[in-house]
Amino acid sequence: MLNPPPHPSGSAAHLLPRGEKGAIAIYVHWPYCARICPYCDFNVVRDRGRTEEQAGLAQAILDDLEAQAALVGPRALASIFFGGGTPSLMPPDAVAAVVERAHALFPPTSAIEVSLEANPTDAEAGRYAALAQAGVNRLSMGVQSFDDAALKFLGRDHSAEEARRAIGLAGRAFSRLSIDLIYARPGQGLADWRAELSTALDLGFEHVSPYQLTIEGTTAFGRAVARGAWSPPDEDLAAELYETTQGTLEAAGFEAYEVSNHARDVAARSSHNLHVWRGGDYLGLGPGAHGRMTLAEGRIATVARRRIGDYSQGVADGSPWAEREVLDPRDADEERVLLGLRTVEGVPLSLLQRLGLSADEGRLADLRADGFVALKDGRIAATATGRPLLDAVLKALLT
Ligand SMILES: C[S@@+](CC[C@H](N)C(=O)[O-])C[C@H]1O[C@@H](n2cnc3c(N)ncnc32)[C@H](O)[C@@H]1O
Ligand code: SF4
Repeated sequence: MLNPPPHPSGSAAHLLPRGEKGAIAIYVHWPYCARICPYCDFNVVRDRGRTEEQAGLAQAILDDLEAQAALVGPRALASIFFGGGTPSLMPPDAVAAVVERAHALFPPTSAIEVSLEANPTDAEAGRYAALAQAGVNRLSMGVQSFDDAALKFLGRDHSAEEARRAIGLAGRAFSRLSIDLIYARPGQGLADWRAELSTALDLGFEHVSPYQLTIEGTTAFGRAVARGAWSPPDEDLAAELYETTQGTLEAAGFEAYEVSNHARDVAARSSHNLHVWRGGDYLGLGPGAHGRMTLAEGRIATVARRRIGDYSQGVADGSPWAEREVLDPRDADEERVLLGLRTVEGVPLSLLQRLGLSADEGRLADLRADGFVALKDGRIAATATGRPLLDAVLKALLT
């Protein structure tokens, strides 16, 4: 799961007054996966090679794009993000069709970031060049670990060696590469984790997203932990692993520009994620995709139908969404705070003032006095102390 002006495609949506329209980003959800990982609770289905269903979904995504473009009117394109599921399994011509159509409907003012999430298997790595040809210019690789035993535990269908081969191919096809890693696995030590992070850095990634393993109740891991088969690291070790992450990446010159996202420099930040974290509008396309758009009636939150058949049929019937809500302006502002405080740039003080908060008294002043947030250049951002406690900080701020 985002940053700012120095990047050519950085959005200024966070500077807009409430209700004003800015550039628009596009999120495309491709739900198919070769295998379902035991920790994952995203909207995914096993890829059973149903080519007709997949072609139907690709067409529904294009039709949905056209319909939503007509709703939001003329905008500049900010970025495109293909997420999943496993969009590296999406036919490259279907990716190209979305990229072309999006550019035609929302002419961008300059070159934009087109990101795609990829799994590092041999089969998928063979498609990277075609995906680059289709217009993808940034690959986000779900490597998760460089340890074969850990990959097995995580239920991944690739080895560390296979991932290294895929990274080599990706480096030839894309100028911008990001890596996802999962830490706080049972039995993982600090030194092992430091070594894995160093491997990612040695391999030349410009962007690292280390995610702490989250145990979701509805997943195979959730059930295993519930029956006591194994336990994730305790709070203290998890906190040490977090500190190790920050320390190792910082020492290598990578800034944590968001809680779980570290970039080598400003240009390496993900402009798509930044656009979302800054409260910019984005269209959600594909099963279960979330969207946010500013229309005359206010800021609208959408959630597409989750099942592939329901979504495709819904698009054909003019009702792709399972949920469509006009956000109360206060809720929309609170959401901007929840997202914006995840980033180093934080949020404008004026946004917090709109929510009735003052920098000099009350809850916000207390959090400043305790060193959890700081005011700089008219913006409030979480400090290094506040970041690991962000959930509690936000709760204290917005209660
Ligand atoms: C939904 S996946 C899609 C990308 C691709 N299919 C993959 O697996 O690499 C995006 C990222 O979310 C992270 N992720 C998913 N479930 C997680 C969990 N329960 N705990 C921590 N990270 C998780 C993984 O790092 C993964 O790369
Ligand atoms: S982690 Fe990625 S590959 Fe695994 S089930 Fe989730 S989306 Fe699919």
